[in-house]
Amino acid sequence: MTLSDFARRDVALDRLNTFGLPARAAWFATVTAPEALAAWVQAPGWRELRRFMLGGGSNVLLTGDFEGLVLHVCIPGRERVAEDSEAWMIRAGAGENWHDLVRWTLDQGWPGLENLALIPGTVGAAPIQNIGAYGLELAERFQQLDAVDLTTGATVAFDRAACRFGYRDSVFKHAAAGRYLITTVTLRLPKRWQPVIRYADVARELDARKIARPTAWEIAEAVIAIRSRKLPDPARLGNAGSFFKNPQVDAATFAALVARYPELPHYPQSDGAVKLAAGWLIERCGWKGRTLGPAGVYENQALVLVNRGGARGTDVLRLARAIQDSVRTTFGVELEPEPVILGNPGDSLL
Ligand code: EPU
Repeated sequence: MTLSDFARRDVALDRLNTFGLPARAAWFATVTAPEALAAWVQAPGWRELRRFMLGGGSNVLLTGDFEGLVLHVCIPGRERVAEDSEAWMIRAGAGENWHDLVRWTLDQGWPGLENLALIPGTVGAAPIQNIGAYGLELAERFQQLDAVDLTTGATVAFDRAACRFGYRDSVFKHAAAGRYLITTVTLRLPKRWQPVIRYADVARELDARKIARPTAWEIAEAVIAIRSRKLPDPARLGNAGSFFKNPQVDAATFAALVARYPELPHYPQSDGAVKLAAGWLIERCGWKGRTLGPAGVYENQALVLVNRGGARGTDVLRLARAIQDSVRTTFGVELEPEPVILGNPGDSLL
């Protein structure tokens, strides 16, 4: 088997990334069945090719053409694979849309994913950055994932510990980056359901709806309403959700900052560090709603960078660097990008 038996040459990625940025892949293949990969990895030239796994394209910044192979992960399927007295185990193909999976589980009467409603992207991408919102992270509902090792073609299972989940982080952004193609994800939804409604925005929204004891679907609806107000719909305005992670600082740095800015939003962590709200820092630097060339900062949430029309990845990078410089100068805090940056040497932000 040769590359051209399963991959196409010179394919546009413009419609495959939610930022709507122009880029082309030298090679492009669609993965619908994991079994096919064992033969693909034997193709002459495979070893030397740079490879990139693309799901929903909602957490990636394409800074230019990619001189390698893009593997578009479209593996379908979702099923309840097991059930015991404690939990339902749900397995989904990596190519399934995340929000569709959330809705489907709720419709089946299996609560637990409602706080993660409306997060764009695919099931297979969810563990890579350990998606999280409104008081819940994927890691808390994660059982295991199956992946194909693209260096050997072998199937490998990762349990929760092996994934080394952190805040918007996992082993797939570090030691395992680019090596494994995630094929299925298995979630564990506990039967003893507890609503997660401590996040201020969610509590406020439920209050406004006069709901004191919400069902899982009612929480999902509240989350959908909040997200729709604060985050732009990528179909209308290109974006990749939060562009920066919320930074963590040590206790001494926090004490100095809060003395100067008493209203600074902050979230104490179990290890003594303090997480800050990057959106607040960016807004205080005057960036909210501003535009630099064809890229801009969203009006309703300063953590979201948007393509105002015709932007290239390098325009978004330029804006991101300007924001990083402002926040560093004003607060002495480093902002780290959240999306995966696919580009050329020299494009890295930090
Ligand atoms: N804030 C501002 N100005 C802004 C934005 C936020 O002052 O422009 C303040 C808010 O008033 C609030 C604090 O910052 O006090 C936090 O804001 P918000 O609740 O909107 O959440 P966030 O920290 O900005 C994070 C996640 C989102 C997730 C929400 C809800 C990260 C990088 N972002 O945003 O995740 O939906 O919390 O849980 O952790 C994503 O990862 O792509 C994403 C959208």
